[in-house]
Amino acid sequence: MGSSSTYYSLEFLTVVAVSVFLITHANNVVKETGKKDKKCDLYDGRWVLDESYPLYSSKQCPLILEQFNCMGNGRPDHDYEKYRWQPNNCNLPRWDVREFGERMRGKRMMFVGDSLSLNQWQSLACMTMMIQSPPRPRAAYNNPTKSGPLSTIFFPQLNFTLMYMRNALIVDIAKEKGGKVLKLDSVATSAKQWLESDILIFDTWHWWLHTGRKQPWDQIQDGNVIRKDMDRLAAYEKALTTLTKWIDQNVDAKKIKIFFQGVSPDHWNSSDCGTPLTQRCAGQPEPLVKPVEATGKNRANVVLEEVLRKTRKPIHLLDINEMSQFRVDGHPSMYGNPRKIGMDCTHWCLPGVPDVWNELLYATFLGL
Ligand SMILES: *[C@@H]1O[C@H](CO)[C@@H](O)[C@H](O)[C@H]1NC(C)=O
Ligand SMILES: *[C@@H]1O[C@H](CO)[C@@H](O)[C@H](O)[C@H]1NC(C)=O
Repeated sequence: MGSSSTYYSLEFLTVVAVSVFLITHANNVVKETGKKDKKCDLYDGRWVLDESYPLYSSKQCPLILEQFNCMGNGRPDHDYEKYRWQPNNCNLPRWDVREFGERMRGKRMMFVGDSLSLNQWQSLACMTMMIQSPPRPRAAYNNPTKSGPLSTIFFPQLNFTLMYMRNALIVDIAKEKGGKVLKLDSVATSAKQWLESDILIFDTWHWWLHTGRKQPWDQIQDGNVIRKDMDRLAAYEKALTTLTKWIDQNVDAKKIKIFFQGVSPDHWNSSDCGTPLTQRCAGQPEPLVKPVEATGKNRANVVLEEVLRKTRKPIHLLDINEMSQFRVDGHPSMYGNPRKIGMDCTHWCLPGVPDVWNELLYATFLGL
């Protein structure tokens, strides 16, 4: 007993000392660059191989779903776990789980969105469970509790609740006589539980493109007009506007911080990467030199930026689209399951790219 508590206190002191150093150091760097270049754009930068990453291993984080557990499914190359993001004019502060934990103490954070939201939520859970190092394999945080679309992870030592609410389109879908009707003007049904959070992080896009059996609705209601289908980008823009109007009317910006995950790029079209299209994102051991959408910006992300620019309440865009376009290597490809069946060029392996999105989220909590 005695020796183990001595061990812990020594370990704790070391961590505190290191954190104080890192925080002071990070602040200095920001101040210095601030003199030369007032505006530090965290999103303008490059990927750098860094052997001190990843921030956790897939073995340490049993909650990682099979579909994101590339190493567990036999992916042979490992560099994709080790790229960190280096902004050009300043530094992204390294993830410090104790500093993050103290800022989250007593708070409730909710991710609301599709499986890209799930991807980022799982990543943040893995990053946060390193508060207990080594993590306890049987701890509660390894077993999210599920209630309908809501999954909850509770960190007792931080009194921190980290939630994921599956809601692929954000606006409501109602079952009516004509089948499932997508209501571009309404978020009311889903929104009640959102307000019980201190931090909300939304995402939506990929499901707006689905047709046929994967399309979650039969009809689209836009005002008084009900249609079989419409331009998907226009529908997406209307839904985002409905959400931001709802936020403007219902959210107390002093109590709830709101974020939006930028559109997560996929890499289904590997002809952009100089490899045959049939190969998709498979067999890519390193990031691209040029972003995929060399011909212009991602259209959905542009729509998202435009809608967020018009809101009255502050909504912080985690502008991960362009930086993630480089990461053709970060997808599960055939390693989304141990049988290596199928191909996934949409989601991201964990550890991996979403960890960096969470480092950017963390930077906003530090006020950068
Ligand atoms: C834990 O946080 C909640 C708010 O999320 C608060 O109401 C409660 O008092 C906190 N509990 C403790 C033991 O600090
Ligand atoms: C893939 O990219 C090429 C070149 O940019 C383009 O011509 C082609 O239409 C794209 N294919 C798909 C399936 O998106």
